[in-house]
Amino acid sequence: MAIKSSIVYSNVWEDPELNRRALLIEAGDCVLSITSGGCNSLNLLIEGPQKVVSIDANPTQNYLLEYKIAAVKSFEYEEFLEALGVEFYNKPSKFSSDYRLELYDRLRPNLSSEAKNFWDENHDIIKSGLITCGKVEKFFKLYRKILMMLYGSKYESIKKIFFCPDIGIQRKIYESINFKRWHLLNWLFLNRTILSLVKGAHSFRYVEEKEFDKNLNRKVDRAMKNIDNRTNYFFSLILLGKFLSPKCLPPYLLSENFDKLKNNIDKIEVFQGISTDVLAKFGPESFNKFNLSNIFEWMEDDIFNHVMREFIQLAKPASRLCYRYTLAKPRSLDESNLKILKAEPELAAELHAIDRSFMYESFHVYSMNKKS
Ligand SMILES: C[S@@+](CC[C@H](N)C(=O)[O-])C[C@H]1O[C@@H](n2cnc3c(N)ncnc32)[C@H](O)[C@@H]1O
Repeated sequence: MAIKSSIVYSNVWEDPELNRRALLIEAGDCVLSITSGGCNSLNLLIEGPQKVVSIDANPTQNYLLEYKIAAVKSFEYEEFLEALGVEFYNKPSKFSSDYRLELYDRLRPNLSSEAKNFWDENHDIIKSGLITCGKVEKFFKLYRKILMMLYGSKYESIKKIFFCPDIGIQRKIYESINFKRWHLLNWLFLNRTILSLVKGAHSFRYVEEKEFDKNLNRKVDRAMKNIDNRTNYFFSLILLGKFLSPKCLPPYLLSENFDKLKNNIDKIEVFQGISTDVLAKFGPESFNKFNLSNIFEWMEDDIFNHVMREFIQLAKPASRLCYRYTLAKPRSLDESNLKILKAEPELAAELHAIDRSFMYESFHVYSMNKKS
């Protein structure tokens, strides 16, 4: 089943540290992970499981992940970053954008024929950088440009929240911002109509929250006051348009993880489809760790429970599972699913409290107690 034919997310806007600490990957683990921008499937691969199967209903999200995988296989670290279009704030790349096309020619043999067709048609994306090519990332670019326009030279003061020696000073600088124009922009931009154009109307079908802007203002406020921006690449991508530094990156892009990523890269498989297709291809009891992103956000309760039953079928007797919601209220597990899924609310709340990707309403962790 294909949902969309363009890249919606070129990064995963979900904190990989939450998945890491919820799923507790071990050497023999078989992981099923939602692709999205591909980042979290690669981040989980670094943890050294036996295999990762990365699935998405949208084939183009998988072509993007294939590209990232092919770049890992084809290059050493510096060229890997360049092939993906990773750029750092105030540090212009030493390569020309045409060089990315040369890199594409070199990694192309490592792509499937479908992915080759897609990328052959999309040289412009490769040149401008894969990292910022998603609809969500383009939306953030427009958002940032308008914010910069509204604040003019004062935007330089806002940027200081990225360069503080400690969180206390960051909080003070953040609190000194005059938010009037920022909140006005959020009111104009962060609403159901505009966000439905970016992420698809289905994303908000079960969202009861009326004031998206106020909800996000609160979440930004909490993160800016409690999480050190020098470690928060989510905020730097939104407000600076680039990664802050080579130390402030998702795990799969960090130089210290590159050898692990390269050594494990043949253990990742990319698969297009939903849980039903995965069940048909891999069969019951094929996985024991599940990263399910926020795919339940747009499901009715009975579909949610049906899909959950498929994941339970896919699960080995002792498995772990995590997922999130952005704005929607969590769906309710029915009786038969509740017998198998044991919630870990304390761990989930502890992890949600440190979520650098501030935007999620809730995080959920379950262990499965399945009789084989
Ligand atoms: C759930 S969305 C949310 C994105 C995420 N919060 C992020 O920050 O990247 C991630 C991906 O899930 C895919 N998707 C949605 N429902 C799915 C399903 N039932 N099975 C497989 N993939 C699905 C979408 O195509 C999308 O690429």
